[in-house]
Amino acid sequence: MSQQSTLRTTLIVPAAGSGTRFGAALPKQFVSLLDVPIIVRTLQVFEQTPSIDTVVIAASPDFHDHITELKQTFRLEKIAAVVEGGKERQHSILNALQTPVCAASDIVLVHDAVRPMITPAFVTRIVEAASLHGSAIPGLVPKETIKECDILPNSPDNAAVVKTHERSRLRAIQTPQGFRREILLEAYQKAHEQCFVGTDDASVVEFAGFPVVVVPGMEENIKITTPLDFRWAEWLLQVK
Ligand code: CTP
Ligand code: MG
Repeated sequence: MSQQSTLRTTLIVPAAGSGTRFGAALPKQFVSLLDVPIIVRTLQVFEQTPSIDTVVIAASPDFHDHITELKQTFRLEKIAAVVEGGKERQHSILNALQTPVCAASDIVLVHDAVRPMITPAFVTRIVEAASLHGSAIPGLVPKETIKECDILPNSPDNAAVVKTHERSRLRAIQTPQGFRREILLEAYQKAHEQCFVGTDDASVVEFAGFPVVVVPGMEENIKITTPLDFRWAEWLLQVK
């Protein structure tokens, strides 16, 4: 039996966004993708992942009853708590981290509600890497050349190149991101006290001074951000 089976692992799913760039009437995580809501597709993968014990969802109180209905309809048995989502994603995570179920965990994973294309094997690789290194996140070498730019003051759609980064040293970062619970909690508390706002969970952990290891990401693990991403996800589900 692996060491993993003795570690308690909780997944936090931030689902309190409003989906501005997606532009639907409903927040995108509740929109159906081939007849099943995106958030349900995401949670179904974790239901099938033995290395995940429990799930905490952060969502707007307007949707808590809806999540309870989805839990019953789709038998999402690992959902242990639904907490209030914050104005920023970071507030949503801090609320979830303070639940008793998180407090009793060794490893905490955080995964966007709108990334349904992950697999149980991929999730387990993150759990294992997090328990080994303390913090582990999936990333891909970008396909495009990435340039650092300054926005032109009189022409905000355009920008002046400052630097071209060496592509092999860059990683486009995904979720799930995995951490030993005490590292993630200490990092979020420090960020809260010092008003640091990061763009992902690892940036909060980096801010707090902990090392973070990047493991190979999964090309299909797209974040459904725009209507075109939704079409990609439909296609990926149909061809798989
Ligand atoms: N999220 C959250 N709380 C927030 C903002 C975002 O829990 N205050 C969640 C979203 O619900 C999503 C994930 O974080 O699962 C990734 O965020 P993103 O793709 O940016 O979703 P939205 O913020 O909803 O979209 P947009 O930025 O286009 O408004
Ligand atoms: Mg957002």
